[in-house]
Amino acid sequence: MGSARIVVIGTGYVGLTTGACLASLGHRVTCVDVDSLKVARLAAGQVDILEPGLEELVSRGLATGRLDFVVGSRQAVVDAEAVFLCVPTPMGAGGAADLRAVEAVIDEVAGALPPGCAVITKSTVPVGTAQRIRGLLGRTDVPVVANPEFLREGTAVGDFLNPDRIVVGSDDQPAAHWVAGLYADLAAPSVVTDAASAELVKYAANCFLAMKLSYVNAVAELCERLGADIESVTEGMGYDRRIGRSFLKPGPGWGGSCLPKDTHALVQVAESVGFDFSLLSAAIQENIAQRDRIVAKIAGAVGGSLAGARVGVLGLAFKAGTNDLRDSPALSVTAMLAAHGAEVTAYDPAVGGEQPGMRIVDDPYQTAKGADAIVVLTEWDEFRRLDWTYVAELMHGDAVVDTRNLLDPQSVLSAGLSWLGLGRPRAR
Ligand code: UGA
Repeated sequence: MGSARIVVIGTGYVGLTTGACLASLGHRVTCVDVDSLKVARLAAGQVDILEPGLEELVSRGLATGRLDFVVGSRQAVVDAEAVFLCVPTPMGAGGAADLRAVEAVIDEVAGALPPGCAVITKSTVPVGTAQRIRGLLGRTDVPVVANPEFLREGTAVGDFLNPDRIVVGSDDQPAAHWVAGLYADLAAPSVVTDAASAELVKYAANCFLAMKLSYVNAVAELCERLGADIESVTEGMGYDRRIGRSFLKPGPGWGGSCLPKDTHALVQVAESVGFDFSLLSAAIQENIAQRDRIVAKIAGAVGGSLAGARVGVLGLAFKAGTNDLRDSPALSVTAMLAAHGAEVTAYDPAVGGEQPGMRIVDDPYQTAKGADAIVVLTEWDEFRRLDWTYVAELMHGDAVVDTRNLLDPQSVLSAGLSWLGLGRPRAR
């Protein structure tokens, strides 16, 4: 396929990545947002999201004239061949996805879309949304297509340009094939199906990943109680190709803008059709329990009571490589520590500013000053290279709680500190 005229509505990390990457594939892309300040910054090549490679792609798109940024979707869509909806679908009442942003966009563009223009959902939307959009559009000359994204924050550009698969679904099969053709230059298998199946692929995949992580976190807990080592257990499991080696690392719980929201939404969707998805609900419960166990572990490390304890926190983002704090397990753990009376000082290489219940510092060593315990909550590589002898000199106590099993226990121990990981034997 040659170059298509594409409009991307919403310039969050999904929309901006989609727009910049589609432009790099040779399409002519206009990105739209309601935030005029953001549009002006993007039009000047300034990207506020921490996403490796994205700023370069945006600059290249602007320089080649294949990418531009505007306010106002109604005007932007008049000669489009495809419109990608990349607006937020946050968790709404009762855990169901809130589709108000999608509905507002449809309302705005419905009368302006040229005949034949494909309306494509890119952000995660509940099963049935394509059908609902068709109803809202009130037009039979405009196909609606579901084309979920599978980007991970921090590796979004790489994931887009080197995907595991392309999933496209529509009740208008020629339109689905045409949309799949927009990615023809990418060497990836495509699954072309009906709209409901494409929509469900996204939820089924994210929820499976969440269950996998809850399972691993529970196995790590078992390891501690049984005197086994989660590193060896997951290594042994991971060689089984049916299980795979990735997404087997225990941590303080899964977070971010996707897995928590999508797990709740799928439980709700299941409930709406009379199915109790208790397997998935249990994974959500396990994720809450994991945070409680982490707090109990930290309390144990400082002698049983957190009241008045000084805790230095390393990492606040929900995972390394991003400055995203949405549903970050690190934030809930620090909030619980503060609620139990601990004095929290935190450092994250990508997060500044202020957060309730803690003091944020801009140097990791400052978290160690007078601390009874140091707690690693995000797996930033730079924490591995800290000078633990210096950390030990600054600390009041000797406890290092590593909820990501990130550090080399030996380098912590040789500084005279104790190291406590997840699902691993304690090292003193
Ligand atoms: C997730 C999915 O991985 C993407 O495929 C999907 O496209 C995206 O949601 C989305 O729906 O947009 P993301 O939220 O960026 O991507 O983050 P992940 O890399 O999946 O990490 C999720 C959470 O699991 C993080 O809190 C992370 O720290 C945790 N995690 C991940 C672990 O605790 N252990 C692991 O081994 C892997």
